[in-house]
Amino acid sequence: MTAPLRVGVVGLGWAGQQHLAAYDSHPDTEIVALAGLEDAPREKLATKYAIEHAVAGWNDLLKVEGLDAVSVCVPTFLHAPIAIAALKRGAHVLSEKPMALNGPEAARMVRAARKADRVLDVAFNHRQRGDIQKLKALIDEGRLGRPYYAKAWWLRRTGIPTVGSWFTRAELAGGGPLVDIGVHVLDYSLFLLGNPEVVAVSASTYDLLATAGFGSNASYSGKTGAADGDAPHFDVEDLASVFMRLADGGTLLVEASWAAHRRDGDEFGITLYGTDGGAELIVDDYAPKGDLQVFGDDGGQAVATRVPVKRGRAHKAVIEQFVDKIRAGDWRRYDGSGAAALARVVDACYLSAAEQREVRLNP
Ligand SMILES: NC(=O)c1ccc[n+]([C@@H]2O[C@H](COP(=O)([O-])OP(=O)(O)OC[C@H]3O[C@@H](n4cnc5c(N)ncnc54)[C@H](O)[C@@H]3O)[C@@H](O)[C@H]2O)c1
Repeated sequence: MTAPLRVGVVGLGWAGQQHLAAYDSHPDTEIVALAGLEDAPREKLATKYAIEHAVAGWNDLLKVEGLDAVSVCVPTFLHAPIAIAALKRGAHVLSEKPMALNGPEAARMVRAARKADRVLDVAFNHRQRGDIQKLKALIDEGRLGRPYYAKAWWLRRTGIPTVGSWFTRAELAGGGPLVDIGVHVLDYSLFLLGNPEVVAVSASTYDLLATAGFGSNASYSGKTGAADGDAPHFDVEDLASVFMRLADGGTLLVEASWAAHRRDGDEFGITLYGTDGGAELIVDDYAPKGDLQVFGDDGGQAVATRVPVKRGRAHKAVIEQFVDKIRAGDWRRYDGSGAAALARVVDACYLSAAEQREVRLNP
């Protein structure tokens, strides 16, 4: 019998708590260390999960002997420093999304994983949703023929995770809704489309509502999401829209907003058109099951079919796959380069918006 993997989790917020619960229910992991700056929640979580080492700073967590793996669930500017330090100490790393502040940082993480010969993975839990997995199965069965056009979105009316928190500072977050929630959309869309390379992007970003005082919402901010005083800082976008050209000739449109004059709530989804059919998935307010429809044609008549979907396993599936990758042993295959490619696409979007032109990737 192999001993369970000894894991450490950095971060006590929503993300950290998903990782803790998933490791706790996994038969092949033992949570031995936890780090986070808030004393009371740290002690409470350490007691709940019987964690031996509970410390404030991530540096102290990495000093714990014999850690096999570390989950990085902290504000984005800390992903690369913690991941690289953990890899150097010989731990496998699962980072929360977005992978890093930008493409060059993500590339440094990939290089560190290769050098250390350890797994580097990034938590994209939305592609693990039951409705996304069902849609992927339908596409793989050929129900849509060849998908060539997709429009995907994650839109909030008033969902800025508090103006003045780390989320609204480019140097701490890397950007606004595009890199925060749009990166989930980018990940599940490319997954559904069969992972074509993005060859060019043309983007617009706006900050008109946030800078006019509209859209801040404390219920979206985490433990470290407090505003920073009387004149809170905001130097990211509140809305982004991107047109992407794909290597297989397809097109993907992505929209992401934290603030927009639209119907209330939080909605994400995707519409896909293929040569033999189409599909649409709409998820309202994080419902565990979205509304999935498939469209076709029967002798000239439009056919719309509602497809039943299961609830997904989200972070539990992410952690299971991370453990499977570690146990598989062929660690060089899992160096985070897929997620780093998404970081490069996001960088290209911000460049395109800043310079108001199409930006080509991998020219
Ligand atoms: N996958 C998802 O759906 C999802 C959802 C929410 C957040 N996230 C991501 O997870 C990350 C964290 O988000 P959150 O909402 O949980 O944040 P949060 O603000 O609620 O929690 C952040 C945690 O990081 C800890 N931290 C900060 N500096 C630290 C340090 N120096 N040493 C140790 N701990 C430190 C804080 O103490 C806090 O416990 C972000 O990158 C975010 O994008 C992902």
